Amino acid sequence: MDTSAPSPSVRRKAGPRGLPVLGSFFPMLQEPLALANKLHAEYGDVSLVRVYGYPIAFLRNPVDVKRVLIDEPLVFPKPRIVNPFNGNGLTVSQGDVWKRQRHMVQPMFHKEKVRQWAGIFSDELSKGVRRWSDLGARGESFDMYTEAARLMFGVMWRTCFDETPREEFFASIMDAIDVFGRRRGPWGTLYFKLLPRLDPNPERIGTALWLINGWIYARLSRRRERGTQDGDITLLSALVEARARDTSEPMEDKQVRDEIVNLFGASFEMIATSLTWAVHACTQHPEVTRAIREEVRSVCGSEPPKYEDVAKLTYTNRVVQEINRLNPPAWTILRETAGEVEVGGVLLPKGTQLLMCPYAIHRHPDHWKDADTFDPDRFLPERMTGMHKCAYVPFGAGQRICVGQHMSQVDTVQTLATLLQQCDVEYLGKNPVEWQTRLTFVPKRGMPMRVSARKG
Ligand code: HEM
Repeated sequence: MDTSAPSPSVRRKAGPRGLPVLGSFFPMLQEPLALANKLHAEYGDVSLVRVYGYPIAFLRNPVDVKRVLIDEPLVFPKPRIVNPFNGNGLTVSQGDVWKRQRHMVQPMFHKEKVRQWAGIFSDELSKGVRRWSDLGARGESFDMYTEAARLMFGVMWRTCFDETPREEFFASIMDAIDVFGRRRGPWGTLYFKLLPRLDPNPERIGTALWLINGWIYARLSRRRERGTQDGDITLLSALVEARARDTSEPMEDKQVRDEIVNLFGASFEMIATSLTWAVHACTQHPEVTRAIREEVRSVCGSEPPKYEDVAKLTYTNRVVQEINRLNPPAWTILRETAGEVEVGGVLLPKGTQLLMCPYAIHRHPDHWKDADTFDPDRFLPERMTGMHKCAYVPFGAGQRICVGQHMSQVDTVQTLATLLQQCDVEYLGKNPVEWQTRLTFVPKRGMPMRVSARKG
């Protein structure tokens, strides 16, 4: 008996054939999330295409997503992602290294740990809001995405090193993200291998790497020489002090460097993206802005919102949850198949790259009503009862779920609440906002805004 034959329920055709040899190369290069949305509309929950013969599947049904992320991580491992920034840090490592590192890093982001950075956050936030309203007072507008990234970059830099970043670091790293964002995952690397003329400027990545490595290794060697110091709450120190569960060994310098870069890279741009879309939504829904202001007034009076207030700002929390549903900053969660396997009636060959796009999952017609409507109250506890565990996955799910989930929610809510408490915000661009996927899900032509201090 041929046990490898697919069951009769297995559909064979789950996507377009595409061009000879190239397959779906061009739509994938142009905009993978647009391709995902198109394929889900035409082929349903699971679709399969090929790029240069390599199979790529898109999944959007929460039932399949749960199987991949929670139930069968060995059947659907995270693929090996090689890039010059991340080394072997938490976002990309696998197997025993990942397990060891996860155990050491995760406790650094527990609620009580995040609270100790609240002073840094409030300080940077008040500087940021002042900077935006000063620009407004001079009649100047700005791109909210760049400014939110600047704010979060400063916050994360101080959290890591207790120092203020130099402007050249911000400029160089944003530039590297811009260049690097075009190489999306393993298939992106493949494009640039096969069509090297598409590879955008590797020196710009080199410059950013040189700056980052030089900076981190200098601070690390100073920290090792100095030893432990009371009141040092930097992430750098936490990484130096961490010990492996089984061997009690500390991390080597290269691993500390990799974790700093991973945590930095996984955090500041993601939060900045979430904030950008949240501020835009408030400019488009005056009733939401009014409700946030009312809530902030009743919880904080005229004082700026603090870390302790954030949990009480329940409506503002729902606004941020809804933004992360409609415009999830992490536009895809990537896995691959360890062997041939059937998912949702489609037989996927070994080595298939699985793209689970929260944008599509969060609009699944069986799980979300009026999915394109902005409705923060859909996150009221009574309306969330019975919701599938993987219908809402902006931070992933299962063993590799985001370690920074609490930190991002607090930072985004506190920023939105503070900005709307103190300022009026005007969106100066066109609607609907065109989006694109880079490292995160960003507005294609920026998010022009003008901010002015509120009177009274
Ligand atoms: C709005 C903000 C954020 C979003 C939307 C987000 C999203 C995600 C998602 C979807 C994953 C899972 C990836 C996967 O399963 O392959 C992830 C993992 C991760 N995130 Fe976040 N994240 C955010 C903020 C942060 C912050 C603030 C930090 C740390 C300071 C952080 C650190 C990480 C790390 C280290 C991982 C890898 C975990 C592992 O593989 O074990 N993220 N994030």
